Amino acid sequence: MEGQGKQVTGYLLFSLGTAVIGSLQFGFNTGVINAPEQKLRSFFNNTWVERYGESISPGICTIVWSITVAIFSVGGMVGSFSVGVMANRFGRRRSMFLVNSLAVIGGLLMGFSTMCSSYEMVIAGRLVIGLFCGLFTGLTPMYVGEVSPTPLRGAFGTLHQLGVVVGILIAQIFGLEFLLGSDKLWPLLLALTVAPAVLQCILLPFCPESPRFLLINLKQEEQARKALVRLRGTEDVSKDLQEMKEESAKMAQEKKVTIAELFRSASYRQPLLIAIMLQLSQQLSGINAVFYYSTGIFESAGVKQPIYATIGAGVVNTVFTVVSLFLVEKAGRRTLHLLGLGGMAVSALIMTVSLLLKDFSAMSYVAILAVMLFVAMFELGPGPIPWFIVAELFSQGPRPAAMAVAGCCNWTANFLVGMSFPKLVDWCGPWVFLIFTAFLILFFVFTFFKVPETKGKTFEEIARGFGGSAPPAASSAEEPPATTSAAVTLPASPEKE
Ligand code: GLC
Repeated sequence: MEGQGKQVTGYLLFSLGTAVIGSLQFGFNTGVINAPEQKLRSFFNNTWVERYGESISPGICTIVWSITVAIFSVGGMVGSFSVGVMANRFGRRRSMFLVNSLAVIGGLLMGFSTMCSSYEMVIAGRLVIGLFCGLFTGLTPMYVGEVSPTPLRGAFGTLHQLGVVVGILIAQIFGLEFLLGSDKLWPLLLALTVAPAVLQCILLPFCPESPRFLLINLKQEEQARKALVRLRGTEDVSKDLQEMKEESAKMAQEKKVTIAELFRSASYRQPLLIAIMLQLSQQLSGINAVFYYSTGIFESAGVKQPIYATIGAGVVNTVFTVVSLFLVEKAGRRTLHLLGLGGMAVSALIMTVSLLLKDFSAMSYVAILAVMLFVAMFELGPGPIPWFIVAELFSQGPRPAAMAVAGCCNWTANFLVGMSFPKLVDWCGPWVFLIFTAFLILFFVFTFFKVPETKGKTFEEIARGFGGSAPPAASSAEEPPATTSAAVTLPASPEKE
């Protein structure tokens, strides 16, 4: 794509910023539940007393609490899995608009739970919010990937993760006892998610639909051209259009790929394996053991004010996502992912040492440093890259289905780590982070041998790379090349096993 230039306009940034509100929501709702744990537990108890005239037993209280936390990921799994159907049916922009209604419903359910003395409303609200977040972990990266100019697709792709980490940080800060984390205000804290949803609904009508969706899926060339002209700030968008038309022509017969077809076709096997493994590498790195349980980890390492160390981790998280944003188009995805996984493995070892030697008072500082390094290394690669690389590994036809499968794997692994970590701590004690070290090494080796560099390549070039043959002769958009072979491009009819 030499000579294309980096066409960044205010309108492009506005559209990206609007889409990324969805990422912010995902981060916010991931982080928001930590701080008010005790308040929620006493709310469960109060409701119980009101209804049955006796206190809730500690066992039942813990079950209700665990369900409240975990049901979010269950919603996320279902939501992320449904993204393909929605994105194809309603388009990217309208899907984002519609999905916001879930944030409003979920937020209101949680916000009015105390007034209605119903903890079931908190649980239902968390489920609905999970659905909403699951959908956005597919919709935002897809939209961002499709409207960004090729040379900046990675940098802009990182914006999704930036939204996530800023969302987590906002939740950590608002969750402080003297802000919204108090006995009275926690329902408002949980309901806060309604505000960004309304804001995004106001802004979305001013954003364009994805030009790729307009041209490739709807065949509305003129609309696509208009959207591109506004996004790129120039009348000459022929290169972008040409590239999309080529992609469109090559996939003329496989417009919408279903999830079943995605698994059946041999041509998608390699990119699908890579997409899934990268998502697993993100979650099985153990990052959410830190984000869900850092306060406890810091406490067991002897840190005096764990809540502030947790917020410190949130700040480091944000700073390093910005670092990655600037590095990703220079260093490339592969290198940063490798560096991140390797760095996390080392940090996990340091963390293990600090937990083993916690009787030495200096070790509490080592533990803090190790957690910060762990988080920083995560944000260099394993945080942002898996989210946007899936949109890069697949062309328009299979992209929504691939995002759905990858997103669902991510949420499932997230759920498993979140649920099992407390048990693992019981079993392994201070050795627990070695489990993640082992995973990190495994994913490092996989990335080293299997993951290609996608920096600066068009979607079509990337898809062709998985074919393993020489590139086809330059093709005209209207006439699909007569000699297109399944080995060179994505298959016209998916090969059945
Ligand atoms: C990624 C993960 C998410 C995690 C966050 C931490 O977005 O998907 O689970 O909480 O990074 O920054």
